[in-house]
Amino acid sequence: MQVFGLLGNPVTHSLSPPMHEAAYAELDLDARYVTFEPAPEALEAAICGAQALGIAGLNVTIPFKQDVLELVEPDDLAARIGAVNTIDFSGETPTGHNTDAIGAVRALRDHDVALDGTAVVVGAGGAGRAIAFGLADEGMTVRIANRTEQKAHDLADAVPNATGHGLGDLDKLLADASVLVNATSVGMESDETPVPKAALHDELAVLDAVYRPLETRLLRDARAVGATTVDGAWMLLYQGVEAFERWTGNDAPVSVMNIALRERL
Ligand code: ATR
Repeated sequence: MQVFGLLGNPVTHSLSPPMHEAAYAELDLDARYVTFEPAPEALEAAICGAQALGIAGLNVTIPFKQDVLELVEPDDLAARIGAVNTIDFSGETPTGHNTDAIGAVRALRDHDVALDGTAVVVGAGGAGRAIAFGLADEGMTVRIANRTEQKAHDLADAVPNATGHGLGDLDKLLADASVLVNATSVGMESDETPVPKAALHDELAVLDAVYRPLETRLLRDARAVGATTVDGAWMLLYQGVEAFERWTGNDAPVSVMNIALRERL
């Protein structure tokens, strides 16, 4: 039996176990997906232990995504983002990957969104970093807007074809943009939005990384102005799909994983 899992703290309410196990059942794979909550000081021991025990792969979430970078061999994208959310134990040394970036890209592609032109990414934390690199690597021009403006400038310095801004300029930044991503926590279990409705328009595709609630105020506003909307469960789904495909070498049963996820949201 192959064992996969999630390393984080807390992970008790994670949707990854049912999503991955639905895929194992669909493809008849002899595998399980379990959650682990090591103490921060035991992180290195946890990764060495996982390798010694023959664990096949681990996802990594808050608060360990950055610290794990030092403990595995990161690929180029994970190193540039500065965070690892997927560890592969199949080689001599564990390798680190970041499927959050491609998760956002595939969520948009799934909705037939063209990834050329200009994207506005609101937020410059962990999610914002991954998404900004993901969209820039697709060839988009990326405008990063963040409450703490300096963080947007710092991130823009690292991302190709990117500029940094404060939140005050959002209407100007969005006027000729084709993609908007909310990578802040604003709207999570609240009816707030980081983007004024007046700045939205019908040429936009709007992805909200927040998935609780599934229809955030931002997405409700976006739908009302005729924009394409992509909820946060799509991004969660595709980061999992990418991890599954890397670990197992199989094409993921995307619709089965999507149903397993949405049943629990
Ligand atoms: P994550 O890993 O989920 O991205 P994070 O690294 O803590 O989490 O980043 C949270 C992001 O949400 C940041 O961009 C943060 O802005 P600051 O850098 O200014 O802190 C943003 N954020 C959180 N609360 C916000 C609020 N009330 N208004 C605007 N932005 C907010």
